[in-house]
Amino acid sequence: MSKKLYIEPQNPLTGEATLPGDKSISHRALLLNAIATGSATIKGIFLSKDVRSTMTALQTLGTKIFFNQDGTLQVEADSFREPKYPLDCGNSGTTFRILLGILATEPFHSTLFGDQSLCERPMGRLTSPLRKFGVQVDGRDGGNKPPISLRGIEQMPFFSYEMPMASAQVKTALMLMGLRGNGAHILGGKNSRDHTERMLQRMGAKIDVSGGDVRIWPSNIRAIDMDVPGDFSSAAFLIIAALIVPESHIQLRNVNLNPTRTGFLNVLLRMGAHIEIENERNNSGEPVGDIRVRYSELKATEVTPKEVPALIDEIPLFAVAALFAEGESKVFGAKELRYKESDRIRAISHTLIAMGASIVEREDGFSIRGAQTLMGAKVSSFHDHRIAMATAVAALRARSPTEIFDSDCIGISFPQFPWLVKKLGGEICHIGAK
Ligand code: S3P
Repeated sequence: MSKKLYIEPQNPLTGEATLPGDKSISHRALLLNAIATGSATIKGIFLSKDVRSTMTALQTLGTKIFFNQDGTLQVEADSFREPKYPLDCGNSGTTFRILLGILATEPFHSTLFGDQSLCERPMGRLTSPLRKFGVQVDGRDGGNKPPISLRGIEQMPFFSYEMPMASAQVKTALMLMGLRGNGAHILGGKNSRDHTERMLQRMGAKIDVSGGDVRIWPSNIRAIDMDVPGDFSSAAFLIIAALIVPESHIQLRNVNLNPTRTGFLNVLLRMGAHIEIENERNNSGEPVGDIRVRYSELKATEVTPKEVPALIDEIPLFAVAALFAEGESKVFGAKELRYKESDRIRAISHTLIAMGASIVEREDGFSIRGAQTLMGAKVSSFHDHRIAMATAVAALRARSPTEIFDSDCIGISFPQFPWLVKKLGGEICHIGAK
């Protein structure tokens, strides 16, 4: 049975919250330790639906993953074996694309598939370089859409490759091919998240990063323990809720502040947001801190193409913030948003228009006039976790209640979202009916 979110607006959010472990780092803690030598203890990992897709696929390939009594997760690498079943990546593009890179150097047959949304997402961005370097790949739509089957090669030649888009998933897959093959030079990843590079450095890989380009040499990596910090992309929903609902002031503890993830903070500060970072420290190779946020009168701004990779997942939320900012806000160079779990430019525009806003959609972004009034509405989540939660945040500042259908998808990254909003004082509940 599909669930819906019900939101009553206007209650200020106050108090403090701790976010679940970062999704991108959780995936990588599993995937990189699974190809390393030894055993790793992972603290703070959050097994959202997406991360569970990675865990199950790795277990099918032979990795031993189990829970310790203290709640940490143990990952024990073993050589991979040909999977007896197709690997189900669920809704997770990160699982699918990084696994393609790992399996490219495994000389056996494997098939990867996913849910309805994942089966519509473009995979040619990886299957075409894979083919170019000698991997046998086949799949739907000429290998661009899942299901995709491949037979990897043990001796991946050295390669130099310029990515047509700044994707951290593609970059990671290519890095792992170079690491486990004969090295690689990967260009075009500027400003995309660099968790893989940081983790590989700690694991002893020979890697050189300059201006977003990565040079990697064949290396044996050793397993490392990790303490996964809170997810900035999940924190962003609470940050916007506090910024747009008058009288709110909240503190979010232990959030990942990697600069390749926090581009949204820079944009919000430019808009006049009252945001303070406290208690900055380093944990497992990642910058971490606490974030204090107060309701703010926001000013409009423009997001430029160069900024987009470091805030790609937060752009639907930028649309929500822009509705309440003085002036006209614009986003340019964000066409990649159309290839996420839903077409996020279309989904957020349709949703906010249904709530009474006016938005001008463009192929690579949108324009939004600020100081708008939102009405509650009955809207769809587009089966996309980030659209469901961005809509719920907008609903907190609407004039009347909102219902968001098919909201189970928030389990992909942040199932605690309604509970945390409620704990901070928001009026929200998850109802288990159609
Ligand atoms: C991710 C990279 C980004 C991001 C996604 C997670 C990652 O996707 O949107 O949510 O963990 O590497 P792209 O690589 O497609 O930009």
